This record gives sequence, C-alpha cells and structure tokens, in this order.
Amino acid sequence: MANETLEWFMVIVVLVVSISQSCVHGTPQVPCFFIFGDSLADNGNNNPLATLAKVNYSPYGIDYPGGLPTGRFTNGKTTVDILAQFLGFENPIPPFATSSRGPNIVKGLNYASGAAGIRAETGSNLGDHICLDQQLLNHQATIFRIGSILRTNRLQTLQYMKRCLYTVGMGNNDYINNYFMPQLYPTSRQYTPEQYAEVLISQYSRQILVTRKVALIGLGLIGCTPDAISKTNRTACVDELNSAAQLFNQKLVSLVDQLNTNLTDAKFIFVNSTGMSTGDPTSVGFKVLSVGCCPVNSIGQCVHSGTPCQNRNEYVFWDSFHPTEALNRITAFRTYTSIDPTDNYPMDISHLVQLDYL
Ligand SMILES: *[C@@H]1O[C@H](CO)[C@@H](O)[C@H](O)[C@H]1NC(C)=O
Ligand SMILES: *[C@@H]1O[C@H](CO)[C@@H](O)[C@H](O)[C@H]1NC(C)=O
Ligand SMILES: *[C@@H]1O[C@H](CO)[C@@H](O)[C@H](O)[C@H]1NC(C)=O
Repeated sequence: MANETLEWFMVIVVLVVSISQSCVHGTPQVPCFFIFGDSLADNGNNNPLATLAKVNYSPYGIDYPGGLPTGRFTNGKTTVDILAQFLGFENPIPPFATSSRGPNIVKGLNYASGAAGIRAETGSNLGDHICLDQQLLNHQATIFRIGSILRTNRLQTLQYMKRCLYTVGMGNNDYINNYFMPQLYPTSRQYTPEQYAEVLISQYSRQILVTRKVALIGLGLIGCTPDAISKTNRTACVDELNSAAQLFNQKLVSLVDQLNTNLTDAKFIFVNSTGMSTGDPTSVGFKVLSVGCCPVNSIGQCVHSGTPCQNRNEYVFWDSFHPTEALNRITAFRTYTSIDPTDNYPMDISHLVQLDYL
C-alpha cells in the first residue's frame, strides 16, 4: 500500500509539473470559474468583515507569491487557486469583495467566506460572514453585470454562464461552527445527526439548483483536524465528527445522482474529500499529521506574527483547521484528475469541463 501511494505521489509530481507548464499560456479549458465556499476557498472576502474568522495578517500567506497575507486561510495557495491553474487561468480567480466590477468578472469570481455555511446562522459565533444564500445573491448581481459587459440579453448571458465551471464547498462549518457547539446553537438538541444531514442537504439542494457544470465538494474528515484532536486530548481522530460528516456526504452523493437525472442540461460531480484523506500521508512525504505548523490562538488560527514551522511541506495542517499548500496541491490534483477511481463521482473535473452538450 505504501509503495502504491508513493507511486501515486510520483505520478502527481510529474503531472502537476507538466500540467502547470502546459496550461500557463493559452486559453483556459472553461471561459469562467465561479467559487462558492468557506474558509477552505476564501481568498479575502472576510477581510473587510467584523469577524474573528479572518486572516489578513502574518504568517498567513508566507508562501503565497509576494509572501504577504491575502486573506487565504493557509500558508500559500488554496485548492481552488491551484485548480484554476490546472484549468489554464493565468491569474487567480479574484474575491468578490474587491473585484465585483470590471471586465474581468466574466472569467469568474470567488464568493467564499470563512466560517460560512449552508445555514445562515452558522459561524455567527465568530462574527459576520457571507452565508451561501448571500453568496448566491452576490452571484446573481454578477450575472447581471456580465450581461452588461458582454452586451447580451438574459438568455444569451445564461448560455454563456452554462459554460462556466462552478465549485461549491459548503457544510463543514454547519458542523464545526454550529452542530458541535451545543452551548451556542440548538441544532444538536433539535436534530439527530441523521436528521441534521437531511435538513442540510434539503436546504443545499434548493440553493444549488443551477443548470451548469458544478463540482460539489464533500465534507472532509472534520474529526481529524488538530483542533478536534486537541480538544478531546486524544491522539486519534474524533469519530463522532467524522461519522456526522459521513452522513452528509452519503446524502450529497444521492443528491448528485438526483440532480443529474432531473436536470438534463446540468452536470454535477461529488468530490470525495474524505476518500482522498484516507491512506497514509507519511507515504507521500508528510511527517506531521495532527499538529498545525503555526502557533495558534484560542480559535485555532495562527497567532498574529507568530513564527511558523520551517518545513511546511512536511505538515498536513497549517493551523488547527486548515491544510497547508502542500496538501492543497495534492487535493487540487486529485480533484482535477482522479488518481483513485473513488476520488470523484461520477467523473473528475478534467472530464467535467470537456462536456460540451450542455
Ligand atoms: C486536556 O489536558 C490538559 C492538560 O493535560 C488539561 O488541562 C485539560 O483539562 C484536558 N482537557 C480535556 C477536555 O480533557
Ligand atoms: C428529482 O425529481 C424527483 C421526481 O420528480 C423529485 O422527487 C426529487 O425531489 C427531485 N430532486 C431534486 C434534487 O431536484
Ligand atoms: C469515497 O472514498 C472512499 C475511500 O476510498 C470510498 O470508500 C467511497 O466509496 C468513496 N465515495 C464515493 C461516492 O465514491
């Protein structure tokens, strides 16, 4: 098994290098890429908000080009930044907060917001955030502006939008910053984990009803973050959190099936984040698995101007919740091109973007 994983890793390294080189110049594989999500994708949307869930300070961004904080919750690039590179975009997809106007919005925008969830109240314990409904409203405003930029009527604009790739990664905070905070939120008293997953998926299914190419990113192993492990003084992952997330993921897969059956001019895929996290990270070069690289504050973010670890490529986690760029590279690669057939269902992004019957 270890050998097999090591081989994968070599394949990744070779392919990452060749893909990034082949995609630097030329036309992107889709004309536009729109991103909805939480802190795993946020690239600065929370910076102007009154919230503790923002990271526009050092050492965040230490490995990002320029070495300065941008609002990304990691040391360098996020998974969607790297995906955009694989897709052939020369520049990162900018945040809605600073780039909601101007001709470049036709190429895509990032609406993601740290601490946000499917439910509006999720993440309020940390302050303001842009919940999924508001992210979708921001996108409606964008579609309207794109129509003016392209000088197209409503129908033509929607035809253009259908060629875009969408990624939506939501739900982690509906557990971490809602259900599993019983002192602040009533949801764990109102619903069993099974019922809660159902309530979330049902709300999610009404929100994401769009006729496009959409990658729905499944929940990760939320019970294996340094935060989850340290809070319980355990050394192993917290099963209660992982099994709740698993219930959500199973229902998300069924939702993908339903949407693909019901919406003939759309294609949805499920990105198996949990599946990608199983296996032995040490076989692909990681040495520190359950402790973050930077010293953290009480909410698990790096302390201001703290000194992070030197060997950041050997850490899975950057702070108590968010992966390092090193892990994001692997996740982005496996989301773009499945290495294991279970990485994406029913296809990966490299195949999704090639569909032209929509
Ligand atoms: C974890 O361990 C620390 C120190 O050993 C202790 O102070 C703390 O109360 C423990 N927390 C829990 C949740 O058991
Ligand atoms: C798909 O269609 C079936 C049958 O009409 C319906 O029961 C189901 O709710 C639809 N699902 C979604 C997610 O639209
Ligand atoms: C996700 O990955 C796990 C581990 O490889 C696998 O057991 C599971 O079936 C996958 N889920 C889907 C929907 O493919």
